[in-house]
Amino acid sequence: MQLCTRNQDPAILVFCIPRDCRPFVLPVCLVCVFPTPLMPLHSFTHVGASFLCWLLSADCCHAEDQYIEQFKDTLSTCVGKSIAGFFAEPIQGVNGFVQYPKGFLKEAFQLVRERGGVCIADEVQTGFGRLGSHFWGFQTHGVLPDIVTMAKGIGNGFPMAAVVTTPEIAKSLAKCVLHFNTFGGNPMACAIGSAVLEVIKEEKLQENSQEVGTYLLLKLAKLQDEFEIIGDVRGKGLMIGIEMVKDKTSRQPLPREEVSQIHEDCRQMGLIVGRGGLFSQTFRIAPSLCITKPEADFAVDVFRAAVTQHMERRAK
Ligand SMILES: Cc1ncc(COP(=O)(O)O)c(C=O)c1O
Repeated sequence: MQLCTRNQDPAILVFCIPRDCRPFVLPVCLVCVFPTPLMPLHSFTHVGASFLCWLLSADCCHAEDQYIEQFKDTLSTCVGKSIAGFFAEPIQGVNGFVQYPKGFLKEAFQLVRERGGVCIADEVQTGFGRLGSHFWGFQTHGVLPDIVTMAKGIGNGFPMAAVVTTPEIAKSLAKCVLHFNTFGGNPMACAIGSAVLEVIKEEKLQENSQEVGTYLLLKLAKLQDEFEIIGDVRGKGLMIGIEMVKDKTSRQPLPREEVSQIHEDCRQMGLIVGRGGLFSQTFRIAPSLCITKPEADFAVDVFRAAVTQHMERRAK
């Protein structure tokens, strides 16, 4: 991976707020040193109160303080005085739809910029209205990135991606010896991207994401009270994570084989969901933005049936 940045310092930070159900264990950052390609993110920890901070809209957030302290530690002990860039997904995707504590990203961006780094929002999963309340995930954090990367939803299935940045950073690309893409600026991809944007607007898909996503989230959240093995239901719009645990006291991840069995039962009953998290313990629900409430009801019914079936198997 190559980045032409404001400075030549080699460090690229990829911040990972992991989640393994243990409350109040501090997170650890993964640091990749240029030109090492980005490695898969490793999950380490989780601060249990983070989502609560969002809900309560508290001015001070214990989880945010803890994450920021850890982030500062990483900046002062693991990288040089200046850094090149910092990547963050507004909600972590592959790691199991993990949300940052309120205010974290804003402060992290500031710390990165103080060290000369550019801030990059990876909107590959969160962009194009998926989060409902906002078109871009970074807007939900009140930050303005220097670079935004986007893909997936941009083409509604067509293979395309885009990078948006400031004129200053874009100009720096021209200073590189060679910046070249075989398919860059492909006219057919551009036409598809424009058509997708129009459909999102015309069919009010962002609004649908907000309405049906919240409806689905609330229905799934009720299952958390119903079942001992549902440790957390979280997310925003149509990006919803259901974290499976052994029990609510230990909050240890439900063993992979058990999660796989529930996963397969869902599939057999007609519900396809994703998985994520370090222990593959979180179901990731990110349906098409045109999903309807009856379809959301179907998903909840199937999921409930699969978990019930699993509890019955367990009891035998
Ligand atoms: C958050 C995130 N960023 C980047 C990528 C890579 O996107 P692409 O495969 O379009 O290069 C993915 C793919 O799953 C992703 O989920």
